[in-house]
Amino acid sequence: MNSPNSNQLSLSDRIRDLESQLRDATLSSKRLGLVWTPQEETSATQLMTDRPRIQLTDFLKSSEGPGLGSPHLFLRGENLHALIALRASHRRAVDLIYIDPPYNTGNKDFRYNDRFIAPDDQWRHSSWLSFMERRLRIALDLLKDDGVLAISIDDNEYARLILLLEQLFGDGSVKTVVVKMSELAGPKMGHNALPKLKEYLLLAGKPGAVNGLRFPKQQKEAWDVNYKTALKGFSPRSLARLRQLGHGPVSEEHVLTEAEVAEVDQMFAGVTTESEKDAAIRDGINVKDKAAMDVWRVTNAWRLIQTTNGGGSVQSLMGSRIKRGELSGQAIGAIRTPRGILYLAQTKDLRTILFADDYLTTRVGDIWTDISTTSLAGEGGVEFKNGKKPQKLLRRIIGAVPRTDAVVLDFFGGSGSTLEAVLRLNAEDGGTRRCILVTGEEDNIPTTTTIPRIQGLMTGNVPSSGSTVLPVPGQVLLGTVSCVPQNQIDETTDHPFSLEEVLLRACTAYGAVPETSVGQNAQLLREFPSGLPVIIWPETREPNEEELKELGRLTASGQTVGKVLIQFGPWGDMPIWAENMFSGWSLCDMNIL
Ligand SMILES: C[S@@+](CC[C@H](N)C(=O)[O-])C[C@H]1O[C@@H](n2cnc3c(N)ncnc32)[C@H](O)[C@@H]1O
Repeated sequence: MNSPNSNQLSLSDRIRDLESQLRDATLSSKRLGLVWTPQEETSATQLMTDRPRIQLTDFLKSSEGPGLGSPHLFLRGENLHALIALRASHRRAVDLIYIDPPYNTGNKDFRYNDRFIAPDDQWRHSSWLSFMERRLRIALDLLKDDGVLAISIDDNEYARLILLLEQLFGDGSVKTVVVKMSELAGPKMGHNALPKLKEYLLLAGKPGAVNGLRFPKQQKEAWDVNYKTALKGFSPRSLARLRQLGHGPVSEEHVLTEAEVAEVDQMFAGVTTESEKDAAIRDGINVKDKAAMDVWRVTNAWRLIQTTNGGGSVQSLMGSRIKRGELSGQAIGAIRTPRGILYLAQTKDLRTILFADDYLTTRVGDIWTDISTTSLAGEGGVEFKNGKKPQKLLRRIIGAVPRTDAVVLDFFGGSGSTLEAVLRLNAEDGGTRRCILVTGEEDNIPTTTTIPRIQGLMTGNVPSSGSTVLPVPGQVLLGTVSCVPQNQIDETTDHPFSLEEVLLRACTAYGAVPETSVGQNAQLLREFPSGLPVIIWPETREPNEEELKELGRLTASGQTVGKVLIQFGPWGDMPIWAENMFSGWSLCDMNIL
């Protein structure tokens, strides 16, 4: 029998042993990465009984004219439901998803299960992560293989979001850009030891996707005073030709021939150098007027140069040419390196030449300090307390997608800044990008803010000020997202895609707006404003005699562009009955989705 003492000892030993086992178990089960307690969400549980539906309700269009492009889409409602509906019509169709989700600051910005998450809510991070993961998982199905996901975020959830994205996209798949989003001024700066000036932009995608982005070069902030020598007897056309021959920052791309060396020498025959001051005075500029000089420098950047020490090999190549008497009487001549790269150098000191025009712009890095945040209130002509994102930021992100027909999705659309940026970029470069914007009914934002902003852009009537500006061309389909109880859906007769989804697909794929239809959903379509003719035949059966007559009347209506017949059902080719009636029409077969 154990003494009380030995009993106590064995008990404490046992406790120690258990503690050690527990520690080992904890250590061995610990994972690298993000762990949280999943939180239920009513919008998600609803999907156990209901199915999301998109109902198109209206159509906004700028006045007729070129550049309207394909319709954009603005959906109001719960974004989880919208994403699921869009997955049926836009799987792997999106080039860029940009989102600006609630930052979970605890300051009534993040609503979960219909209540705001407070700063002392013990599940606040778990709720936010569950909310984001649910949406991001579906959003990933919408991205093309080379598509990119871009997310604005601040310090509150940055660390957790980057881990979540790595879980979804893989290790090392996320890049962070730091964006200056506030000025170091104003009352709110006074209370903080480290005033908050920055936010982050996280960029994620499959391998190679983020590197495929092409950020436009930025104007350098200040003129480089080293470009202070002007070329006399030179022309902008000569600089353009030099670039074709490979001179400048992209010199690796052209292999220079001997004949081209001779061409360049010829180009510089008679070209001399002078100080920028002398050149400006000859142009009638008051060189003491700094502003006038700055403007003159930028417009004359094609002939302003600086010289640098080109290194031993460039100098010896130039020296050999001079020794051989190939450049007699010339101030500047060409050098061809053994790899066929073009350099220009002065004959008097063998220094190489750089043009100001080639160095006026610079690549953007991963710290963006040039986004102005002071005039944001006026953007879009609407007020928005949740924080509008600057047009400059959005244009930079969207403009970096290397295709002007990109599909851009923003499912935390708010005031509609992303749609505005897409419309404006299209108007400027003739692009045909399409935007899908989704935002919830919180505070009636779609009615009070988003739609007035879109309308203002397209009509040119700025909502808040009453002033008029040039309208931005475009057309936007408006729709609502709702849920239909599954038990109201008859699986035997219901089509795999709702008519609304078909319309969405047709409209986005063919740039058309349904005019009318026959068949069971005629009423819905008749409510649509007129646009390019689309005939929806939502039945798998052939039309009956009366319906055939109606179809015939529609096809004979004399319209010639954008004709699309949309059909459900198992037809592979145009059905025989439709062949005659619809010859020359495009066929949008829903089964290929
Ligand atoms: C930070 S704001 C986005 C602002 C936007 N980038 C802009 O420039 O106007 C986030 C928006 O997402 C909306 N939102 C939040 N949760 C949502 C949800 N579950 N479904 C749809 N919209 C939601 C909010 O109502 C808010 O309008």
